[in-house]
Amino acid sequence: MFLRRTPIEGDARAGAQLYTQCATCHGVDGLGNEALGAPALRGQNDWYLVTQLKNFKQRWRGNENGDTFGQQMMAMTQILTDDAAINNVVSYINTLGRD
Ligand code: HEC
Repeated sequence: MFLRRTPIEGDARAGAQLYTQCATCHGVDGLGNEALGAPALRGQNDWYLVTQLKNFKQRWRGNENGDTFGQQMMAMTQILTDDAAINNVVSYINTLGRD
């Protein structure tokens, strides 16, 4: 039996605007780009995406010397100015792959 959680609440329309910048690496379809080290985001648990975005933003993740990919992603969270922006972009990611 699957434990379903309530989806993250956010403004997917506003999130779509933010996501145009994420798409450069993670793809418009959210399927990722191995050559850039950017994983698929689509299909991932939304609460996990929120946690990781906060971890990058707090510099808990991606702040190690030599962690080039992590550092790139950490820098990207600059455009996510607050928790609402994080929820918005993740709400949009939730829509990827759906009708
Ligand atoms: C410059 C390329 C680039 C851009 C632009 C970018 N990312 Fe990333 N992202 C990465 C890379 C590389 C990683 C993998 C980091 C690592 O190896 O720890 C990553 C990792 C992540 C993760 C963690 C995934 C996991 O499974 O743990 C999330 C969530 C994420 N990105 C979301 C976003 C969002 C949302 C945006 C737009 C605001 C964005 N990314 C923009 C390159 C990028």
